[in-house]
Amino acid sequence: MAKTRSVFFCSACGFESARWLGRCPQCEAWNTFDERPFTLGGGASAARPRPAPRDARGPIPLAAVDSAHVSRMRTGMSEFDAVLGGGVVPGSLTLVGGPPGAGKSTLLLQIAARLASANARIVYVCGEESAAQVKLRADRLHAHAGVLVFAETNLREILTVLDRDVPGVLIVDSIQTVWLPEAESYAGSVAQIRDCTQALVEFSKRTGCATFVVGHVTKDGTIAGPRLLEHLVDTVLYFEGEASGEYRILRAYKNRFGSIDEICVFAMRDDGLHEIENPSELFLAGREQRPSGSCVVASIVGSRPLLVEVQALVGETSYGTPRRLANNLDQARLAMILAVLERRAGLHLGTHDVYASVAGGLRMTEPAVDLGIALAIASSFRNVALAPDAVAFGELGLSGEVRAVSAASRRIAEAQKLGYRTLFDPGHYRDVADVIRAAL
Ligand code: TYD
Ligand code: MG
Repeated sequence: MAKTRSVFFCSACGFESARWLGRCPQCEAWNTFDERPFTLGGGASAARPRPAPRDARGPIPLAAVDSAHVSRMRTGMSEFDAVLGGGVVPGSLTLVGGPPGAGKSTLLLQIAARLASANARIVYVCGEESAAQVKLRADRLHAHAGVLVFAETNLREILTVLDRDVPGVLIVDSIQTVWLPEAESYAGSVAQIRDCTQALVEFSKRTGCATFVVGHVTKDGTIAGPRLLEHLVDTVLYFEGEASGEYRILRAYKNRFGSIDEICVFAMRDDGLHEIENPSELFLAGREQRPSGSCVVASIVGSRPLLVEVQALVGETSYGTPRRLANNLDQARLAMILAVLERRAGLHLGTHDVYASVAGGLRMTEPAVDLGIALAIASSFRNVALAPDAVAFGELGLSGEVRAVSAASRRIAEAQKLGYRTLFDPGHYRDVADVIRAAL
């Protein structure tokens, strides 16, 4: 008889171990180990089903591969299509992640309705809500033309039914609610999520059905088993920022069919998500007079230029070690900029708390934001506002030099379009101390 025992693996990176560990030796995360039954003997292969071979004919010349049928489906939401790299790719699997209430179900239902009205067969698997709840939502969005709902969570059952009549697009809401009977653990466990994703990848590639999968996020803001899923799927889209405000930002973290970091900004209204076509105007607080500690930065997000407002607050430390907090910015980058300001521009920030943040909830990671952060900090420290039409971009080096960044002309063009004409950029300045002297 088959013997059952347990294996444990890390929900963050998938590292497997024979016993429970407090800390993962591979990714060094704490408390991420999950237990999963594992059947020895006859059932061993059932514990981890292998995907069926995709092409049993053996190697074929690349030139002979038929790619003519790969035509992308347009959803009609132009910004969303752009995030995907130009539309939905048949046979691809896209993971849509985000915190509860971000708008994942809303977005996918809207897309489903748009694609269905373009004559594609769309199946929406609702594992989280009843079919009636999905109908209520669709009424609100005026979006039910031709969408088929499938209220089932057994993925084996779902795929068997769909295999008989393959849809053009399959939406699974969410990956945490579906389960495979052969994976002997509860729905939502890392083992189930991994096996279900694998089964869906195999189904999409074999049938050419484009699949969207909703993934919830854990407390620390990552999709459960993120690294595990990221390399299985073709595209990872993630809602970032606050789920409470009106605006939602969707960003491509990985895309096999387009560029990463592409974003799409939506406004959540009573009748669903609406695309915002000029997000630059949104991320600037729209003030006539800028207060001290604020600097507009011309950045590039994905492939588009975008103006964002960086804010800083500097105050004397009243107790203990100074606090340095970066919100939507890289903490290590902030520490480096503070060190450069202290040593190369003579700003004595050592006894001050510094808070730096990007307004509007967009996460900024490119080094071209450095100079803007430095100016916002210097402006708050001196309590002097920058000129209302000032805009900055440029990377800071450790010796205080302002380094050139990519796409300078596109950044400048975007800034000028919105009326920002006083430029603090690598084309005009070589050193951060010069910039601060000129700006404040
Ligand atoms: P939802 O799409 O269910 O989020 P998720 O699937 O990511 O958990 O809903 C997002 C929020 O948006 C929810 O709190 C209700 C609100 N909402 C609107 O404001 N307008 C709408 O038209 C809809 C459908 C939802
Ligand atoms: Mg939902």
